[in-house]
Amino acid sequence: MLHRTNPVSHIQDKIETVYPFPPKPAPLTEEQKQTHIANIKRLLKEQDAVLIAHYYTDPEIQALAEETGGFVGDSLEMAKFGNRHPAKTLLIAGVRFMGESAKILTPEKRILMPTLEAECSLDLGCPADEFTTFCDAHPDHTVVVYANTSAAVKARADWVVTSSIALDIVEHLDSLEKPIIWGPDRHLGSYIANKTGAEMLLWHGECVVHDEFSADALRKMKSVYPEAAILVHPESPASVVELADAVGSTSQLIKAAKTLPNKQLIVATDKGIFYKMQQLVPEKELIEAPTAGAGATCRSCAHCPWMAMNGLSAIEQSLTEGGEKHEVFVDDNVRVKSLIPLNRMLDFAEQLQS
Ligand code: 13P
Ligand code: SF4
Repeated sequence: MLHRTNPVSHIQDKIETVYPFPPKPAPLTEEQKQTHIANIKRLLKEQDAVLIAHYYTDPEIQALAEETGGFVGDSLEMAKFGNRHPAKTLLIAGVRFMGESAKILTPEKRILMPTLEAECSLDLGCPADEFTTFCDAHPDHTVVVYANTSAAVKARADWVVTSSIALDIVEHLDSLEKPIIWGPDRHLGSYIANKTGAEMLLWHGECVVHDEFSADALRKMKSVYPEAAILVHPESPASVVELADAVGSTSQLIKAAKTLPNKQLIVATDKGIFYKMQQLVPEKELIEAPTAGAGATCRSCAHCPWMAMNGLSAIEQSLTEGGEKHEVFVDDNVRVKSLIPLNRMLDFAEQLQS
């Protein structure tokens, strides 16, 4: 059974007005790029640091992470890699919750980010005080939160999940017949509730990137490419998910690109994913799923504005300047509490693999 709730619809207005999109980093000449890359490589070595990048960062950042012995992955894999890598400093190219997760899991390490202003609309749309009030009103519910939340929200949760493991964890909780509070992504929450039949109360948040994919425009695109398979991240609206041949987290979509026999793939997620996907299926044609219809009124246009803040210049600055503009700190009390649901997820993931 699925309950819907809209405790904070005003939060979406806030995202538009109080948290406008950040400016794009200034474009660099080829010479400037090469200088930054050389400096970053040197600084990573000097500081015993490793670069860990999300699939949604720009291709040149992902390439640099790979070239320097770092890592490119989804949010769960990034956390696992940072957890086991011996480097003293983890340089996280992604959005703030990813840096916070790294700090929660490895407090002894220095965690740097190109900018601490790299937000996520899901995180912004789920303030800890309002979420706590919501949870307190339903004390019999198990609180499951998406990794795309602040450390304080995680500290109020029983479980943290990422999109690659959310279905398995909710299935497990449903088998224990526990009603669930789910936050903050309402689209992912509905998708999971429909798949599992679990009783879920949904927080009303959304990802500004995935929310913009348009089912009507996608149907039209499919009529132009009738042989193409459609790949969709479950943060997209249900009407878009319904059209999918494969639904999954970033890493699950990359795997599906390989497994599906189709030579053309229409991909409904952040376009940053094309870099790794194309590496794996160089023979296939990857097509961006349409956002916001023919009027092109999209805000994000399939690229997360906060992921885009992770430019070469900011990465170099984080290593040369560090300090409060780049280093991630999490209050110790919050860290200890948020570690419990995060570790629960990591332990569950390990058991699934064994
Ligand atoms: P993944 O957990 O699939 O990496 O997704 C994170 C994210 O921010 C999706 O928009
Ligand atoms: Fe958040 Fe969406 Fe950006 Fe992912 S793509 S970080 S969910 S705003």
